[in-house]
Amino acid sequence: MEQLVMNQMLEEKGFIDETIDPKLKLTDEINRLKKEKNAVILSHFYVDGELQDIADYVGDSLGLAQAAANTDAEMIVFVGVHFMAETAKIINPTKKVILPDLKASCSLAESAPADKFAEFKAKYPDHKVITYVNATAALKTMSDIVCTSANARQIVESFPKDQKLIFAPDKNLGNYINSITGREMVLWDGACMVHEQYSVEKIIKLMEEHPDAEFIAHPECEKPVLLLAKHIGSTTSLLKFVQKSEKKKFIVATESGILHQMTKACPDKIFIPAPGNDSTCACNDCSYMKLNSLQKLYICLKYEQPEITLSADVIEKARIPIQRMLEISK
Ligand code: 13P
Ligand code: SF4
Repeated sequence: MEQLVMNQMLEEKGFIDETIDPKLKLTDEINRLKKEKNAVILSHFYVDGELQDIADYVGDSLGLAQAAANTDAEMIVFVGVHFMAETAKIINPTKKVILPDLKASCSLAESAPADKFAEFKAKYPDHKVITYVNATAALKTMSDIVCTSANARQIVESFPKDQKLIFAPDKNLGNYINSITGREMVLWDGACMVHEQYSVEKIIKLMEEHPDAEFIAHPECEKPVLLLAKHIGSTTSLLKFVQKSEKKKFIVATESGILHQMTKACPDKIFIPAPGNDSTCACNDCSYMKLNSLQKLYICLKYEQPEITLSADVIEKARIPIQRMLEISK
């Protein structure tokens, strides 16, 4: 495909649109290209099951960042969302990092534009900034340290108790960490569109209908939802919890992709997605994560596009807070 056409397509659509021979066995082709190009496939728990199954590593944001930092492969194919691929590029800048669809954004990352955040930060000159990894590279350049849902408490507690802190961009995770640490971090007003749509009333009703089920939730959910939960944690933590628990049934308040791993790990257990306010939509699906597909992954590996590119200055500045997090989370 001509480079010019390719560039235009990437700008407009976010991915290269090409008719794929229906006779091709995509998983075989992806595995062949991966070997040929010395690439590693890193998938998040929220992408479709077939994209998790083809990965060399599947995990939560922290595990994926660690895998990206430690890989010997020449190319990282990130099957997730843009901020995750950016993080991989920042911590391993000599690698080529590609993402099947450039438009795979994140409502949390979008909730905190760099210019607005700079104005906000300027109001709190004596505060350190903790940035949840679901943020743009630009935001990370303005941060003292990054965290994920898996290590947020540990990162917050790494600061002396009297250190004033800003937490951005997720107010729900920030609120939750404030409640368990007794801190009073200043919170940026951002939220995830998937985790904010759960209905407390419907969850309570479902819990009454299934008294043998345990309710578990991701900390991006709002406080009233978290108050109902038996366990709160990152996607990896939720997965470990259902594996260890003696219970056979779980109501799960996080993106639907995790149910693939839960069902794989515990085929004899039942997992019920937590209900949202709107029963007519597939609101437990993150529409950004779901932009990834086997077809796009194949094309992305074939052309080694779309590629994540960042200026040397952004990489240098954003690397410091990410590296600090990785050091603490070893
Ligand atoms: P985890 O790091 O827990 O996998 O969460 C990532 C995410 O995007 C949650 O919405
Ligand atoms: Fe972002 Fe929410 Fe999607 Fe996670 S589930 S990637 S926080 S929009």
